[in-house]
Amino acid sequence: MVEAQELSKRMSDPNWWRQAAIYQIYPRSFADGNGDGIGDLRGVLSRVDYLASLHLDAVWFSPFYPSALVDGGYDVDDYRDISPTIGTLGEFDEVIGALHARGIKVMVDIVPNHSSNRHARFLAALAAPAGSPEREYYIFRDGKGENGELPPSDWQSLFGGPAWTRITEPDGTPGQWYLHLFTVAQPDWNWSNPAVRTEFLETLAFWGDRGVDGFRVDVAMALAKDMSEPYPTWAEISGEVELVGPVAKWPEGKHPISDRDELTEIYAGWREVFNRYDPPLFAVAEAWVPPHRRARYASPQSLGQSFSFDLLSAPWSVKAFDSIIRQNLNLAEETGSTTTWVFANHDVVRQASRYAQQDLHAELDFISVTHVDAHAQEHGLARAKAATLLALALPGSTYIYQGEELGLPQVLDIPAEFAQDPMAKIENGVEVSGRDGCRVPLPWTTGGEYFGFSEGGSHLPQPEWFGSYSVQAEAANVGSTLELYRAALNLRAGLQTIEEIEWLELGDEVIAFRRPNGWTSITNFGANPIALPTGEVLLRTDGLPGAASLASESTVWLRSEDDKDK
Ligand code: GLC
Ligand code: CA
Repeated sequence: MVEAQELSKRMSDPNWWRQAAIYQIYPRSFADGNGDGIGDLRGVLSRVDYLASLHLDAVWFSPFYPSALVDGGYDVDDYRDISPTIGTLGEFDEVIGALHARGIKVMVDIVPNHSSNRHARFLAALAAPAGSPEREYYIFRDGKGENGELPPSDWQSLFGGPAWTRITEPDGTPGQWYLHLFTVAQPDWNWSNPAVRTEFLETLAFWGDRGVDGFRVDVAMALAKDMSEPYPTWAEISGEVELVGPVAKWPEGKHPISDRDELTEIYAGWREVFNRYDPPLFAVAEAWVPPHRRARYASPQSLGQSFSFDLLSAPWSVKAFDSIIRQNLNLAEETGSTTTWVFANHDVVRQASRYAQQDLHAELDFISVTHVDAHAQEHGLARAKAATLLALALPGSTYIYQGEELGLPQVLDIPAEFAQDPMAKIENGVEVSGRDGCRVPLPWTTGGEYFGFSEGGSHLPQPEWFGSYSVQAEAANVGSTLELYRAALNLRAGLQTIEEIEWLELGDEVIAFRRPNGWTSITNFGANPIALPTGEVLLRTDGLPGAASLASESTVWLRSEDDKDK
C-alpha cells in the first residue's frame, strides 16, 4: 500500500506520465468476474492487487463501450457508457477508486475516427434525408454512375473491401454511400462538422469528470479529411499511406486522409479541456506517421505524447535498436514531450513469438504470423526480456500489454471457427489468425477451469500450454518473466528520477548507457558473452547470478560503486 502522503504527491504530479509505466488491459480478456467467458470490470476489481504488485503508474483500458464487437470494441455504440457484458458506470467508478487508492492512474481509449453503425447519431443519419444536418455527422456522398450505383471513389477499407457502403434511404430506395476506412460497421465521423468536435469535447469531459486521468487516442492521424472532388485514386493514396504517412504527392500535412494540418487545431481544443483539470488530463496518440511528424500530436499544446511503434516493428538487431532509440530520444527532446517504448499491444504478434520468427532479420510481419520456428522460441523469450529491460531503463514512458509480463507467446493456432478479428482470413488456403492470437484470455492459474480466467468459459480458446505461463506458475518463481517484470518495475520506480542519459561504448554488439544517478543498463545483442564492468548487479535477464560476464541476448542493470548512495 502506498503511504497517504506519497500517494497524494504522486496523484497530483502534472508530470506523472513523462516516465510512466502504463499497463494496457484488453477488458474482455483480462479476468471474468461472472463466469460468462468474457472479461469484465468485476474481474478487474478482483485483480487490483495483482496490478499493484507490478508497480505501475497507470492502466489503460482498451474500449469497454457498448459494441457489437465487429472490431473488438473499436466499433463504439456509445462513448459515454459501458457495455453491459463488461459492467456498469458504477463499477467503473469503483475501478477508478480502487486503482487510485493504490497510486495507479486510469486511462481510457477514445475512438474518434469512427463510431459503430449502431451509434444513435448514425441511426439518426440513416433515418434522415440526404442533405440533412443528421447526415452531416458522417461522410455521406451520392454515388457515381447513372443512378448512383457506383461508389464515390475507389477507396479501400484498411481491413479489405471497399471503403464506401451504400445505404437504403428511409423510403426504401437505394441511396447515398458512407465512408468507412475500417469495417462496414465503423462509419467515419465528419470532423469538418463543428458539432462533431463539440460532442467529442463533451465526451472527454464526461470521463475527466468521472476521475479518469487520460486517454489513448485511436487512429489519431485520420480524423481530418479532404473530401473535395475530384477524389484521388486509392492507388495514389495508399501507395503513400499504408496507415503510415504521407510523402511525395502531397505536401506534408495535406494528404487527403492522413496526418493533416487541421488536426493541430482539433487537438488544441482537446488540450483546452485537459487543462481544466488539476493535474491536467493527458493523452497518447496512436498516430502512424513518420517519426518527425509525431511532435504535432505529442507537444504540450496537443495531446501530450505520441506512440512510437518503431521498436515494435523492428527486428532484433543492435543496429535497428540503436538508431531507433537515439532518434526517438532526440525527437522527444525537440517536442518537450517524452518518448514511448512499446513492444506489444492488442494489434500485434506478442514479442516472445515475434523475436522467434524464422527469418530473424527479415522485415517482420508484426501483425500476423502463422509459424514460429520451434527452436527459435527460446531465443524469442530471451530477446523479449532483454529488450524489455533495455527499454525500461531508458528515459520515457513504457507501455506494457497484458500478458507480456508473463512472457506469453502468441497463440498461433486459433481455429477459423473461433476467429473474431476482421483481419482474420483464409489466404491462398492458409488460415491467417489475424490479431486474435494476442487477445486470448490471460492464464491466472496453472490448471483448472479456463486457467483461472473464468469459471464458465473463454471467448477465445486457450491452448493447453497456457497454464505454464500463468500468474500462479510464475509468481514467486525466481527467474520467471513475471518476477523479472515485478523487480524491474519496482527498481525503475525508484530510479526513474531524471530524464538524462549518457551513452557508453562497450562494443559493436552492445547497447549500453548510464543515467546520471548511477543506473547503468547493458544489452548484449551478440552471440558471445561480454565482460561486465564493475558495479552492483541490480538485475539481469540471463539468469546467471554472480557471473562476471553477460550472456548473449541479455540485459543487465548495474549501479556503479561511487553512485550507490545517490
Ligand atoms: C486501432 C486499434 C485497432 C482497431 C483500429 C480501428 O488501430 O488499435 O485495434 O482495429 O484502430 O479502430
Ligand atoms: Ca463476464
